[in-house]
Amino acid sequence: MENFTFHNPTRLHFGQGQIAQLDKEFPANARILLLAGGGSIKQNGVLAQVKQALGNRLVHEFWGVEANPDYDTLMKAVELVRREKLEWILPVGGGSVLDGAKFVAAAVNYPRDPWQILVTNGTDVTSALPIGAVLTLPATGSEANGAFVISRRAIKEKLHFISPLVYPRFSVIDPATTFSLPPRQIANGIGDTFCHVMEQYLTYPADAAVQDRFAEGILRTLIEVAPKTLADPTNYAARANLVWSATCALQGIIGVGVPQDWASHTIGHELTALHGIDHACTLGIVMPQVLQLERTTRHAKLLQYAERVWDLHDGSDEARIDAAIAKTRAFYESIGIKTRLQDYNVPASTAAEVARRLTARGVHTFGDRNHLTPAKTEQILRAAA
Ligand code: NZQ
Ligand code: ZN
Repeated sequence: MENFTFHNPTRLHFGQGQIAQLDKEFPANARILLLAGGGSIKQNGVLAQVKQALGNRLVHEFWGVEANPDYDTLMKAVELVRREKLEWILPVGGGSVLDGAKFVAAAVNYPRDPWQILVTNGTDVTSALPIGAVLTLPATGSEANGAFVISRRAIKEKLHFISPLVYPRFSVIDPATTFSLPPRQIANGIGDTFCHVMEQYLTYPADAAVQDRFAEGILRTLIEVAPKTLADPTNYAARANLVWSATCALQGIIGVGVPQDWASHTIGHELTALHGIDHACTLGIVMPQVLQLERTTRHAKLLQYAERVWDLHDGSDEARIDAAIAKTRAFYESIGIKTRLQDYNVPASTAAEVARRLTARGVHTFGDRNHLTPAKTEQILRAAA
């Protein structure tokens, strides 16, 4: 295990009725930007709960943050914050709204064109407004991490940024707020969470017994809970376990001291930028093929995964690895996430285009040992056709 420093500054309020905690968390005189998506929080009663908790505080609302939040939309929110001298950002929604809030928080006092935060990886971001979040979709872990991913449709880009400055100060995670999610978004949450664990686990052995067992525990929980929460969407116990899995998967703890991959995400973001495919669906397409192409370099961990996550104990090493990869794909299909490019009407020629874009952006190597390349990406996507 490598040395590490672990510090997650986000305070989490988990459980039913916890939106009321907003009243204790925000200062009485806080000037707040409430950031929201397309309106789900009006229909499911979450907005009413938030407003009740905020009482008489000064709140400006900004609506219309889209799935895969767009730079041009968010810049309008940045202008509103500057104009009204707002001090706190309160995203209420899924990962897109939370990520959007982090961008706004970092952009408000950024001296240059805020797109540069994403292009240059924001080494010159020195401050961000404080964020307090209400999460309504379990998937990204954005409620408890310092990452955001922003799309810019005008130039077909989707880039990410990570900074300790944009961790939410606190987040409210009430699983009951997710009961209104349509099956597609529940599936997306499961598929994204599964891949977040895999990106930090399915690499090579690093003598990190706790991280491995924690990762395997989340994966097994997802496999167990996915059919239950899809079949019975208002079963609180099942949903609460999915929601907590999603937070645990990407709040940092399973990734400390171990190699991380993020190859499926790197490639997946390109598919969203080019074709608008839901984030989790891109992972269902890409990850099984990454495992297949990299089965030699990840041999030991694939065998561990086969045994401990899928209970595959019999047959040759290669047969167990084949079965584990097949089960991974079948799991995505079982929750309703298609795993082939053709399922999304995307031609195989996109493989070369993605490789070209990575090269143009200077992404020549990536993945757990930096040996994935644009050429291998093309192979992966051709195999996913
Ligand atoms: O906009 P509204 O009306 O709220 O509807 C949303 C949206 O249409 C709806 N929704 C959310 N909560 C709901 C609900 N509908 C009914 N009931 C509820 N309780 O769901 C739709 C999708 O929401 P979105 O926020 O886009 O989904 P998700 O949470 O999956 O976020 C995806 C974004 O997060 C990024 C992705 O790339 C993508 O841009 N990611 C962020 C990460 C991070 N910050 O660490 C890591 C991830 O790997 C990921 O890249
Ligand atoms: Zn993800």
